[in-house]
Amino acid sequence: MSETTPDTLIQNKKEVPSEFNKIAKRYDLATSLSQGYQKDLQTSVDRMNLTGNEDLADLCCGTGKSTIACLNNLPNGKVIGIDNSEGMLETAREKLIPKFGNKVTFVQQDVMNLDLADNSLDAIFMSYGIRNMPDFERCVRNLNRVLKPGGKICFHEYAISKSFASKLYWKFLGYFLIIPFAGLTTGSTKIFRYLIKSVETFLSPNEFVDLMKKAGFENIKRSPLGSWRKPVLHTFIAQKPTQ
Ligand SMILES: C[S@@+](CC[C@H](N)C(=O)[O-])C[C@H]1O[C@@H](n2cnc3c(N)ncnc32)[C@H](O)[C@@H]1O
Repeated sequence: MSETTPDTLIQNKKEVPSEFNKIAKRYDLATSLSQGYQKDLQTSVDRMNLTGNEDLADLCCGTGKSTIACLNNLPNGKVIGIDNSEGMLETAREKLIPKFGNKVTFVQQDVMNLDLADNSLDAIFMSYGIRNMPDFERCVRNLNRVLKPGGKICFHEYAISKSFASKLYWKFLGYFLIIPFAGLTTGSTKIFRYLIKSVETFLSPNEFVDLMKKAGFENIKRSPLGSWRKPVLHTFIAQKPTQ
């Protein structure tokens, strides 16, 4: 009955940011070996069709790879990057502040308990973040609260369908590619074993679309991403109703 493990979903997801602290300095190397990582992030941001002057929050921004993709499309906008791992944020600040100056700020916060005002953001981007939340629906409802009416949200996330083939494909990617390569580059397999499990215990793409609807979003669109991740990596885009 209580068989979830790695290592019981990193103790119910509470230890996830502190485990990211341990690999913060090697995260960029590990993801740069993952072919198409940055290009796929940019594709998801491009799909949001931003006007270029939005105030956007990049949630679970990590070392800022997703923040760069957002800033590329915001010549007159601003980004607040939020993450709960001080180590990941430190790397993000070192890389991005010299280049983008006051167009970007980084703040340490738990995304489950965001300290942001109602109706305060034009847009939200969240890559490889939502499945780390202990309560997906509560999190998505809270994101709806902080968006302005008409504001856009984009989740860039792994989600596997209920089919046996998808589950098998994910197991192959996880146990034969991601854990060995990322483990070798970062020196830790604990967080990657957890990440594989967190995808297995996340919702299917259709279930996540339903959850977004339930949380109050409209105009929901799901699109696959390219290359070897195509069957399992998706962009989910939606809008908060204007009234
Ligand atoms: C896989 S990384 C993604 C980083 C970045 N978005 C990217 O695309 O490269 C996931 C990030 O989520 C952060 N995270 C996990 N749980 C969190 C929480 N409850 N609140 C804030 N950040 C969290 C971790 O610290 C980590 O930096």
